[in-house]
Amino acid sequence: MFMKIIIINGPNLNLLGKREPAVYGKMTFEAFFNKIQEKYSEVELEYFQSNIEGELIDKIQEVGYVYDGIILNAAAYTHTSVGIGDVIRAIQVPVIEVHISNVYSREKFRHKSYIAPYAKGIIAGFGLLSYDLAIQSFLLEAI
Ligand code: DQA
Repeated sequence: MFMKIIIINGPNLNLLGKREPAVYGKMTFEAFFNKIQEKYSEVELEYFQSNIEGELIDKIQEVGYVYDGIILNAAAYTHTSVGIGDVIRAIQVPVIEVHISNVYSREKFRHKSYIAPYAKGIIAGFGLLSYDLAIQSFLLEAI
């Protein structure tokens, strides 16, 4: 089954590779994205990143009634954005919340998610593999 899945990354995730490598790893997201595109050639994978909350909401609205799945790492906005929580509640496409780090082993403010109540599921703490596992979960469900 041909699926259309988008990965949406929030603020500061454009700095992957050079941002706190001990927490987020040394690979750029572009390099990782090329690899998963090759690995899942049967999936139409798209990637969008923004540091701006409203742009993330615009993109979620745009794809949220059309695509088969959204993999969302809203980064810091996970912990602050009622607006992103509301748009996930509004759309029909299932959203998997992902985090590179295990947010529950970090500061308390990272334990709160405005997305989690409306997400299909949450994958956190596996490094960039978190995104790969999210793709797999969509594919497994499609069988
Ligand atoms: C993050 C965790 C967030 O708490 C943080 O603000 C990020 C990245 C993660 O992928 O581990 O920017 O979402």
